[in-house]
Order: sequence, then structure tokens, then C-alpha cells
Amino acid sequence: MPKATGVFTGLLNDIALAAKIISREVNHVGLSEMLGDTGEENSHGERVQKLDIFADDVMRQILHHTGLITCMASEEKEFFWPVPDSFPSGEYVVIYDPLDGSSNIDVNVSIGTIFSIHSKISSSERGELSDCLQAGKHQVAAGYVLYGSSTMFVYTIGRGVHGFTLDPSLGEFVLSHESMCFPDPPRHVYSINEAHYNSWKTGQQLLIDHLKDGGDFSSRYIGSLVADFHRTLLQGGIFMYPSGKGAPEGKLRLLYECSPIAMLAKQAGGRASTGARDVLEVIPDSLHQRVPLYVGNSELVDLAEEFLAEED
Ligand code: AHG
Ligand code: MN
Ligand code: MN
Repeated sequence: MPKATGVFTGLLNDIALAAKIISREVNHVGLSEMLGDTGEENSHGERVQKLDIFADDVMRQILHHTGLITCMASEEKEFFWPVPDSFPSGEYVVIYDPLDGSSNIDVNVSIGTIFSIHSKISSSERGELSDCLQAGKHQVAAGYVLYGSSTMFVYTIGRGVHGFTLDPSLGEFVLSHESMCFPDPPRHVYSINEAHYNSWKTGQQLLIDHLKDGGDFSSRYIGSLVADFHRTLLQGGIFMYPSGKGAPEGKLRLLYECSPIAMLAKQAGGRASTGARDVLEVIPDSLHQRVPLYVGNSELVDLAEEFLAEED
């Protein structure tokens, strides 16, 4: 648990400032040159959107000189980077997905930013890779920004999940969702890209067949993890990104998508699994490691694990 000192509050405020700058760009992206892709691919072989780079630059430039950070890592950079020698090194590690749901930028559908914060554990003066490769259960904070009909900042420092809504007239995030918890009983909503059905393992197929047989589930899928998770947190249900033939470990990245989402889910009374084990227990072996993700109300995540275990 981070020391509830001004230092940590300052770090969250810095991330909130980055969120406001990104939100301002997102909210008029159709009127700027920020639409579309850069023509390049990132280390995941995905086409990089101009807004991915903008958001990545904003997060780095707002944080790296503050003296609070020892190193950072981003979905958009192949390697982690220690804070430059020109700036003081701090005690926190920030790992982030600067823009989540990039495929939705040009069609004006909700997108987000996801961040994960660890404390420095290495003895070197500036951060090392080992500071980044920590299990999710060691996070000192996690959160996301949702650029939707309103811009929301949702985070946890291990004392519940709290949501703030940006008041554009003030330029401030105002507490709007205190102590967010998965509703119990949950609304029966499952969220998955069913186009991949034929590539799933049998257990996954049987699970979806079972949810459909019940006749009382709705399916909702936005294609932005942040938006799909936010709806699941508010309404209940389960979000799934399983492994598939083309993606043996699924698509979502452990360090800056699954681990922060898993900390939020646990703090909100739910849980996140890889389908076989708790996401928060996975010890990363690489920066961009992927894991399958099942997150939402505990009883629905438990059910998913049962169907997948049948398989094994
Ligand atoms: P990103 O834009 O950061 O690469 O993340 C996109 C992810 C995630 O937001 C979403 O849940 C998933 O991609 C959707 O994948 P499919 O288009 O394969 O359903
Ligand atoms: Mn993402
Ligand atoms: Mn991204």
C-alpha cells in the first residue's frame, strides 16, 4: 500500500492532468489532423494510430520530469525506459496503455487510457526491467480514463474503486462514483468477440453455448477493453478475451491491460482470471506478455473457469 503521502497524490494528479490533455484532443479529433494511423506498426504488428502516439507522448512528458518516477513502460514502446539522467529519479513505476481501443477512434466510439503503478524494487538508482516485471498483486495503484459521453477517471489505491467525472466548465475531475462495486446479483451480460467462436477451445465454446441456453443473458461488445470493463463494473456480468488459434495467449497484455483491470475488479468485489488462475498472481516474464482475460462478477468468472477446466 503506497504511503498516503502528497507524493502519491501528486502522481495521481499528474496522470489526471495527462487525462485532461488527451481528453481535449479526443473530443475534437475529427477536426484535427489526429484522425487515422501513422502508417507505422508497433512491436505487436498493429497499425499505430496518430492518437496512440499523441497520448503516449503526453503521458511521458507529464510524468518523466516530476521526480516521482523511476521508469516507465508503454504499449507503444518495445522497451521500458528509465527516467532520463536530466531528471530526478523517484520511487514509482508507471506502466500504461496510452490509448486503449484504438480501432474505435475513427468511428467515435469510447476509448480509454489504462495505467498500472508499482513501487521500485531494484537497488539501482534508476529503474530496471525487474521494476516493471512485477505480479499484479504488488500494484500500489491502478486505474483507467474512459473517453466516452463524459470523461471519467476511475482508480484504486487498494481502498476501493472510485470514479471521477470531468467537469469541462471547471477543468476538474469531480467525485461521481464513490466506492464502485459490481452489482450483486449481476445483470446477465456477457461480453466477447463471438466472431472468433470457431477458433476457441471446446470449453470456451460450451461456456458461451451454456450462457445462450439460459435465455436470460444479453451480449454487449464495444471492442474497447476500458469501455467493456466499465459497463461490466457498473451493470455486472463478465468480459472475456479468450485464447484462440491465432492467439494462444489471447490478445490483451498483462502488464498494462489485464493486471490493472484485475486490481480494480478485485477492489470492486469481483475478480479476474486467465481462465486457469488469478491474473494478479501471474509473474510477468516479458513487458508485452499476453494472457487470456475473464473479468467481472466472481460467480461468472468461477463458471468460466469450470467450463475451461472441463476441457483440460
Ligand atoms: P489497444 O487499442 O490498446 O490495442 O487495445 C485494443 C484491445 C482492447 O481494447 C479490446 O478489448 C480488444 O483489443 C478488442 O479486440 P478485437 O478487436 O479482437 O475484439
Ligand atoms: Mn489496449
Ligand atoms: Mn493501446
